[in-house]
Amino acid sequence: MEGCTTIPLTSKEVTPTVRFLKAVADEAQYLLLSHDVFNGDLAGSMQFAIIHGGMTGIVAKVDGGVVGNCIVSREGLEASQHVGNVMVAVREDLRGLGIGGRMVEEAMKLSPCELFVAECFAENVTSIFLFASLGYKQRGEMPKFIYKDKQFHTKIILST
Ligand SMILES: CC(C)(COP(=O)(O)OP(=O)(O)OC[C@H]1O[C@@H](n2cnc3c(N)ncnc32)[C@H](O)[C@@H]1OP(=O)(O)O)[C@@H](O)C(=O)NCCC(=O)NCCS
Repeated sequence: MEGCTTIPLTSKEVTPTVRFLKAVADEAQYLLLSHDVFNGDLAGSMQFAIIHGGMTGIVAKVDGGVVGNCIVSREGLEASQHVGNVMVAVREDLRGLGIGGRMVEEAMKLSPCELFVAECFAENVTSIFLFASLGYKQRGEMPKFIYKDKQFHTKIILST
């Protein structure tokens, strides 16, 4: 999309990125893994992870404001440091313009990880298509993994 720039997620970008994440966090299909968004010190954990190599990512901006974000969080397990968990979100009115795909592609290039994993609701067709278009394959599904809005949802696991 013209007028949209993408830059690496650095410490300087954490505050506007957290503001963006909080604004999109209400969406049922996103931030499955990030209880921190509501409960913890997300900005603090992100700063720590960026500084210590546990997180890389991309921020998308339009007119200086954050409109999208892709995070690659490294697995905590010592033996799985080559694995990056990918999460992506784009501001609702700017979806379908290629920003999400572009951020995931750039975030993967920037990351030192060798294997990338993404998770989403089974209903999240856009997300499944996005990751599939970048070579991810569906590796599994977990029925009833998520209980949200008084309903069980299936979680899909994809990886490169
Ligand atoms: C998922 C999300 C990030 C996608 O962002 P986006 O900017 O709209 O995605 P893009 O425009 O880059 O589309 C990516 C690809 O998926 C394809 N695609 C998207 N929706 C599709 C659909 N319904 N059917 C077929 N293909 C589809 C696009 O064609 C594109 O592929 P291409 O580049 O080869 O043409 C966005 O919808 C979002 O923020 N959702 C809420 C958060 C979320 O669910 N995140 C995923 C879980 S971490």
